[in-house]
Amino acid sequence: MDFKKYIADVPDFPEKGIIFRDISPLMADGEAYKAATDKIVEYAKDKGVEVIVGPEARGFIVGCPVAYELKIGFSPCRKKGKLPRETIEVNYGLEYGSDVLQLHKDSITPGQKVLITDDLLATGGTIAATIELVEKLGGIIVGCAFFIELEELKGRDKIKGYDIFTLMKY
Ligand code: PRP
Ligand code: ADE
Repeated sequence: MDFKKYIADVPDFPEKGIIFRDISPLMADGEAYKAATDKIVEYAKDKGVEVIVGPEARGFIVGCPVAYELKIGFSPCRKKGKLPRETIEVNYGLEYGSDVLQLHKDSITPGQKVLITDDLLATGGTIAATIELVEKLGGIIVGCAFFIELEELKGRDKIKGYDIFTLMKY
């Protein structure tokens, strides 16, 4: 399937100079969304993944249907102030700003095998922050899966040594 056909390229959003790669048309098409999800399930299925962690908000869109298909859990990594119980947190930068991400302290048990999901790898700031949180709790990252990779921004360099799967490259 030509997945790029379902990505809307929006110039100058959310700020001048950024081409926003919008996955909404892909999610809105049942067949395309399922086919993209199936590719990630295929990537993950022999890795012994025990739990999926995805950063708010688009990491949920990718990770939850994969967790459902693999019959495993999903733990949300959220922006500061959204998780109600005890958390750990990290500051991070991304292509257009910076923020704080948090994870519930009991969302991972030490030694658990974790797949990290997000819609898009840009500078790698968000995924590096998510990895840091999971590892602080003792999780073992067995893979990181994305719909889109923006190669120019060299996100891979920030997460060297981790197994990375991306469906579309720009
Ligand atoms: C976007 C995207 C990734 C991140 C990628 O999230 O969904 O999580 O940016 O950029 P990076 O590789 O430079 O960190 P955003 O923070 O815009 O939040 P959203 O998912 O809530 O829209
Ligand atoms: N997150 C970071 N950079 C992005 C981009 N160019 N398009 C969509 N989401 C993004």
